[in-house]
Amino acid sequence: MISEYFVQMFDAAKKARENAHVPYSKFKVGAAILTEDNHIVVGCNVENAAYPQSQCAEASAIGNMVSLGFTTIKEILVIGSGNLLCSPCGACRQRIREFASLSTPIHMCNINDHLKTSALEELLPDSFGPENL
Ligand code: THU
Repeated sequence: MISEYFVQMFDAAKKARENAHVPYSKFKVGAAILTEDNHIVVGCNVENAAYPQSQCAEASAIGNMVSLGFTTIKEILVIGSGNLLCSPCGACRQRIREFASLSTPIHMCNINDHLKTSALEELLPDSFGPENL
C-alpha cells in the first residue's frame, strides 16, 4: 500500500508545511499528492482573519493539482503538527473523493514519522462521488 514515492511525498509535504499561513491556529499542515503520472503536487493550509475562509492543506494541494492539469490522486500524504493523527477533515475527504478511487491510500504523518495509512473508503464510507450523478 505504501509506494516507492512515499519518501519524496513526505519530504515535499514537510517543505510545503513550512509555508503554511497559520497566524490563528498556529497549526501547520502540509499535503502532497501523487498524480496519475507520478508527479508530486503540494499544498499547505492558508488561514484567514475571517476564520471560516481558511483553506486546508489538502484543498490547496487539490487546487494546485487541477491548476497544473492533473486529474487523479493516486496517493495523498498529510503532515500535521504535534503527535496526534492529522486525518483529513470531513470536507477534505469529500474533496479527495472527487479525484481518487475508493482504495486510494491516505498517509497520515507527523513531522518525524508515518503514523497511519487508510484507504479513502475507510475514511469516507458509502460516499457520494462523480459516478453517483
Ligand atoms: N487542517 C488542514 O489543513 N488539514 C487537515 O487535515 C486538518 C486541519 C488545518 C485547518 C486549520 O488551518 C488548522 O489545520 C487547524 O484546524
